[in-house]
Amino acid sequence: MKFFIDTANLAQIKEANDLGILDGVTTNPSLMAKEGIKGDAAVMQHYIDICNIVDGDVSAEVISTDYAGMIAEGEKLAALHENIVVKIPMIKDGVKAIKYLTSKGIKTNCTLVFGPGQAILAAKAGATYISPFVGRLDDISYDGMELIAQIAQIFAVQGYQTQILAASIRNPMHIIKSAQMGAHVITSPLASILALLKHPLTDSGLAQFLADHAKSNS
Ligand code: G3P
Repeated sequence: MKFFIDTANLAQIKEANDLGILDGVTTNPSLMAKEGIKGDAAVMQHYIDICNIVDGDVSAEVISTDYAGMIAEGEKLAALHENIVVKIPMIKDGVKAIKYLTSKGIKTNCTLVFGPGQAILAAKAGATYISPFVGRLDDISYDGMELIAQIAQIFAVQGYQTQILAASIRNPMHIIKSAQMGAHVITSPLASILALLKHPLTDSGLAQFLADHAKSNS
C-alpha cells in the first residue's frame, strides 16, 4: 500500500519524505487555502515546489465544475510536472473530463467519492485513482471502511485497474484498516502517519535495554 500525505504544508511534506516511506502527496483547495496560497501563479508555483520535494504522484485539484473548464485546467496542471495527477470531482462533467484526460495520457484522481456506484463510474472512465472519503462518512455515522471493502471487492471482481486511494483519514486505525481492506493507497495527515510509530511497550522496552546497557558498562 502506498503512503501519500494529505497536506499542502511544505515542512510536513519534507518531514514525511525524510522518513523514507512517502510515495506521493494529495492537496485540495481547502488545504491550499490553509497554507495561505492565493492566486493562480502562487498556486502553480506551490505545486512545483511540492513536486520538487517528493518523487511521486502529486494530486492537484481543479476548481472548475464544467467539462471545458476542467479539461483546460487539467491540461495546464499536468503540464507543470510529470508527477502531477489532476484531481477531478465526482460529478457528471467530472466523469467526462476523466475520460478525456485519460485518453490524453494524463493521470487523474476522482475525488469526493462516497458510494460504490460513483467508484464504478470513475473506474469506467479510466481514473488512475479514486478517493473515497472515509472520515467524512464516519462523521455522519456511515462506515467509511465498509466502503473501502466494498469498492475493493468490486474492483477485484471486475478487474478494474483504478487504484483505491483511501482519503479523509483521521487516525492510525483508518490506515491499518485501509491496508486490511485492500486499499492501494492511503492519503493521511502527518499526525496519523507518525501515530503508527507509537507503542508504549516499544518505549518502555527501549528504555530498559538502554538502562541495562548503561549498568553493565559502568
Ligand atoms: O484531500 C481529501 C481528503 O483527504 C479530505 O480530508 O479530513 O478534510 O475530510 P478531510
